[in-house]
Amino acid sequence: MNDPFHPCEREEPRSEREEAGLRASRSAPATGKLSAEELLTTTRSVRRRLNLERPVDIRLVHAALSDALQAPNGSNDQPWQWVVVTDAGSRYRLAECYRRSARPYLEAMAEQAAEEPERAGVWRASAHLAEHLHRVPVLVVPCLSLSPGDFEDRFRKLGLPAPVDHVAHSVYYGSVWPAMWSLMLALRLRGLACAVTALHLARAQEAAEILRLPDHVTQAGLLAVAHPQGRSFRPAPRKSVEEVVHHDSWRS
Ligand SMILES: Cc1cc2nc3c(=O)[nH]c(=O)nc-3n(C[C@H](O)[C@H](O)[C@H](O)COP(=O)(O)O)c2cc1C
Repeated sequence: MNDPFHPCEREEPRSEREEAGLRASRSAPATGKLSAEELLTTTRSVRRRLNLERPVDIRLVHAALSDALQAPNGSNDQPWQWVVVTDAGSRYRLAECYRRSARPYLEAMAEQAAEEPERAGVWRASAHLAEHLHRVPVLVVPCLSLSPGDFEDRFRKLGLPAPVDHVAHSVYYGSVWPAMWSLMLALRLRGLACAVTALHLARAQEAAEILRLPDHVTQAGLLAVAHPQGRSFRPAPRKSVEEVVHHDSWRS
C-alpha cells in the first residue's frame, strides 16, 4: 500500500508561479532583525495593538504568503487558497459576520472573566478585536479547496482502517493551520502583526457569500493584519514543559 505521507525530497524544477513567489519574497523588504527564538516566543495574536490607521503594503502580505506556502501539509496536496480582503465594504461585512458569530461567546467569556479574573485579559482582547475588526486594513481568510468529506473518502480509498474520520480531520485542518502560523511569523518578519481568529466560522456561510466562495471551498479561519503599535512583544505566560510533557508513557 502507498504511504500517503511518504517523505520525499523535491526533485522537480520550480513552476513559474513558484519562481515568481520566491522573487516577490526576496524583493520585499524584510524588516526583521529578530532571532529565530525571539520570533517564535514573541509572535502574539495581536488584538489590541493593531494600528488601524496605517495602511499595509499588500506586497508585504504576498511576500509573507510566499514564505508561508512552504509549510508542511498532508501529502503535499496544498489544498489551501487565501482570500486577501482589503475592500472596505467587504471588511465591514466580514466584521459584522464575525461580531454576530462571536457575540454569545464573548458574553459567556465576560461572565467567566468576572469569576476568574485571570481570563479577563483574553476576553478584553477578543472583545476589542471584534469591535474594531472592520478597521483592520487587511483581512486574510485561509481556505481549503476540498471538504473534510473529500479527505475521508481519500483515506478510505487509500485503505486506511475504519473509522477514518479522526485521521482525515486532523490532516485536513493540519494542511492549512501550519501555513497560517508561518504566515503570522513571516508577517512579523516584515514588520506586521496579525490576530488569528476562528469565531466567524459559526457563520461561515454568510462569509462565503460575502467572499463569493464556491461551494466546495471551506474556510479555516480569519487573520487580521496590520502594522503593530506600542512597545515590543514579549513571551506570554504559558504552562511549563514539566506540566505538559510525558516521557514514554502518560504520567498522571
Ligand atoms: C485555533 C485558534 C482559534 C482562535 N480563535 C480566535 C478568535 O476567534 N478570536 C480571537 O480573538 N482570538 C482567537 N484566537 C487567538 C487566541 O485567543 C490567542 O492565541 C490566545 O489567547 C493566546 O494569545 P497569544 O497568541 O497572543 O499568546 C485563536 C487562536 C487559535 C490558535
